[in-house]
Amino acid sequence: MRIAICHFSNSGNTKLACRRIARGLPAHEVDLIDMKPGRDGRSSIPTARPDLTAYGLVGFAAFTDWFAPSEFVRRWLLGLPDACGTAAFVFNTYGFASGPTLNIFAAWVRGRGFVVVSGHSLHTPESYPIQIARGLGAQNRPNERQLAAFDRFIDKTELAAERLGRGEPSRPARLPGGPWRRLVPSFSRRRAYRDMGRKYLDGERCTECGVCERLCPYEAIELDPKPGFDEEACFGCWSCYNHCPEHAIYTGRMRDRAFYPGPNEQLREKLG
Ligand SMILES: Cc1cc2nc3c(=O)[nH]c(=O)nc-3n(C[C@H](O)[C@H](O)[C@H](O)COP(=O)(O)O)c2cc1C
Repeated sequence: MRIAICHFSNSGNTKLACRRIARGLPAHEVDLIDMKPGRDGRSSIPTARPDLTAYGLVGFAAFTDWFAPSEFVRRWLLGLPDACGTAAFVFNTYGFASGPTLNIFAAWVRGRGFVVVSGHSLHTPESYPIQIARGLGAQNRPNERQLAAFDRFIDKTELAAERLGRGEPSRPARLPGGPWRRLVPSFSRRRAYRDMGRKYLDGERCTECGVCERLCPYEAIELDPKPGFDEEACFGCWSCYNHCPEHAIYTGRMRDRAFYPGPNEQLREKLG
């Protein structure tokens, strides 16, 4: 069976986890599809959507961004045509507490006509600079128990793929999530922006390399020749802050500290 895994990953944790999922489905042809292929060129919203009709199972993966998948993911999904009952799985990484992320994600995916057959949330290192600065970064996650649970999810997804391959109908999944998860409120997608606040540029450090503009999922940065910030379009994802090679971008609260530009060593070893 052909399986697609569409992922949105700002710092690479989710992408790394998706590679492990793909390796755990060896009997199938798995395509990893980046929802924001902007690493090598400017992306835009809505980005061109892949043709998912050739896939028997479609995975959707994203990181937790204020207790839900990012606004980018919501918009990306809205651009998909009706899936007419295609089987799907949802997966998210989180750095502190996942809250209702997986259930919100599943609802968005079902809203596009997919049947969600499995889902999982994986605790990974924190990429949110404010949390890292507070020492709440959990830079050593996942632990063994969490890694084992992740692998059980992959096995379950493999089983679902086998059943689908035999022509059995998709079985809707009951997703994991204890009662406390349901108690965590869902926040407005502008909440992350309010926490981040306005961005500033150290013009002396900026080399006009364009990394911030390329990586911004919201087209909120434009080089002219130095970056200018469209605060209305920004959803506070910290991608520009985390990835600027010169650390030239800062906010009123955060400057020169607590960056998470990519998966740390221990995560690479555990998932790689
Ligand atoms: C803007 C932003 C908001 C975040 N919000 C949460 C959150 O609400 N709960 C949580 O546990 N982790 C949160 N995180 C941490 C990320 O979900 C986590 O580190 C994830 O693994 C990053 O994935 P990535 O490397 O694929 O981008 C947030 C990170 C960012 C950048």
